[in-house]
Amino acid sequence: MSENALKSVLILLAHPSPHRSEVNIALAQSLAEMDAVTLVDLYREYPTLEIDVDREQQRLRQHDIIVFLHPLYWYSAPAILKEWQDLVLEYGFAYGSSGLALKGKWFLNIISAGGKAEAYQAEGYNHYTLAQLMRPFEMTATLCHMDYLPALVLFDARTAAEQHRILPHIQRVRATLRKLQSSATLSDAHAQLSQLLPSQADHD
Ligand SMILES: Cc1cc2nc3c(=O)[nH]c(=O)nc-3n(C[C@H](O)[C@H](O)[C@H](O)COP(=O)(O)O)c2cc1C
Repeated sequence: MSENALKSVLILLAHPSPHRSEVNIALAQSLAEMDAVTLVDLYREYPTLEIDVDREQQRLRQHDIIVFLHPLYWYSAPAILKEWQDLVLEYGFAYGSSGLALKGKWFLNIISAGGKAEAYQAEGYNHYTLAQLMRPFEMTATLCHMDYLPALVLFDARTAAEQHRILPHIQRVRATLRKLQSSATLSDAHAQLSQLLPSQADHD
């Protein structure tokens, strides 16, 4: 990749009830319009969860930044993303001493959560921060030789529409993704994230 080229982004969207979505589908549609971004709607492509492993691995090979875009469901992702991980991230492809296909790629979750930000703290009713709850994704990315970036989160998502917070969130995510695409190094990427989304800084 030349120095000025944008990093390519693969967005794997998981939302089982798109007609009920207020946040993630609108966000996905907006991100799909960006340069060098590929959007895959997993539930639309695989309504019976029969994932085409070869196609998914090929898509991964072709992109620099891998994004899981999803609502937080039971402190994790909707089921198809688990199935996708179980099938696509094969030994010898994604992990193991010869499984280097994903080495050096960047990975992040873009999430909406029904709970408020203050609930995702040690003193809050969810007890753990989002960063702590995302550890299985972090470790999966790490085992697959990828660099994990902090999640971009919209808290209190069910009141976001009435409070007119969705459009500003979409604009923030777009700006952040655009900065990541032009970040040359991992430390640049972390710097962009902490600059653009200071309110979402990791509080571990
Ligand atoms: C099955 C299910 C599980 C959920 N689990 C959580 C959860 O663990 N934590 C949370 O903050 N919100 C949870 N929510 C709320 C969703 O995260 C919220 O409705 C969603 O982020 C809104 O995005 P959308 O408008 O794109 O659907 C859950 C919702 C559903 C339907």
